[in-house]
Amino acid sequence: MKKLSLFIISILMIGLLAACGTATEEGNETSGSEGESKKVLKMATSADYPPFEYIDTAKGSDIIGFDIDLVNSLAEKTGYEVEVQDMDFNSLIPALQAKQIDLVLAGMTPTPERAENVDFTDIYYTANHMIVSLKDNEVKSVEELDGKTVGVQLGSIQEEKAAEIAEQVSLKVENRNKISELIQELKSGRIDAAIIEDTVAAGYFEKDDQLAGFTLESSEEAGSAIAFQKGSEYTEEFNTALNEMKENGELDELIIKWFGGKE
Ligand code: ARG
Repeated sequence: MKKLSLFIISILMIGLLAACGTATEEGNETSGSEGESKKVLKMATSADYPPFEYIDTAKGSDIIGFDIDLVNSLAEKTGYEVEVQDMDFNSLIPALQAKQIDLVLAGMTPTPERAENVDFTDIYYTANHMIVSLKDNEVKSVEELDGKTVGVQLGSIQEEKAAEIAEQVSLKVENRNKISELIQELKSGRIDAAIIEDTVAAGYFEKDDQLAGFTLESSEEAGSAIAFQKGSEYTEEFNTALNEMKENGELDELIIKWFGGKE
C-alpha cells in the first residue's frame, strides 16, 4: 500500500516538473500571426522623461515616447519583440550588469565610465544641459547659483555637471530619483534650481508658466545612445538598424514627431 502511494506521488511530481519546464521555455518567445516566433528582449527605461519616455496618465498606463517608438522600429528591423519595464534611472545600468534586462533606452548618455560596464550604440539624439528655476526667483547665470541649492536626477550626468559647477561657486547639490520630484522640490522651494536636459525642460515649460530656464553655454552635449550588456550580441545588430534609420530619414521623422513642432 505504501509502495503504491509513493509510486503515485512520484508520477505526479514528474508530471508537474515537465509542465513547469514547458512554461519557462515558452516564456521567452511570442508567436506572430503567421505562427513564427520572435525572441523577446527585455528593455528597461525610467519613464519620468517626457518626451523620451513617460506615462500619459490621461491616456492610460502605457509607457510612450520617442525612445519607445524608436525601439519598436528597431525591433521590427532586427526581428525581435521588445517588452518594456519601468525602473529608477539609477537602477538601469546595475540591471544590465546583473543580466536582468537586455537593453536600455532612457535618453542615456554614453559616458566613458558607463562604457566600462555596458556597451553603447552610436548616439541617436543630442541635447544640452539647462538650469531650470522659478520665474519668481530666477537664476540667470552660473554665478547666480552661488549660495544656492541645485537638484539633479540621481545617477545622471547632470549630477556630474552639478559637481563641476560646485567647483566654481558655492553650491549645495540635492539628488532625487525622478525629474518630476525635482520640479516639485523647485515649486515648494526646497531647491532653487534643477539641472535638466533642454528638450525635457521644454515639456515642463509648456505645462507650467512659473518655470524659467537657460541653456548652459558651451556645455558639452548630452547625447542619447542605446545600452546593452557588456559583450552583447545585439549591440551591432541594433546599431546597424539605427544607422539605416538615420540614413533613410525614419529617425528624423521620429525626432520631428516627439521634439519638433513645439513653439
Ligand atoms: N542624459 C542624462 C544621462 O544619461 C539624463 C538621462 C535621464 N533619463 C531618464 N529617463 N530619466 O545621465
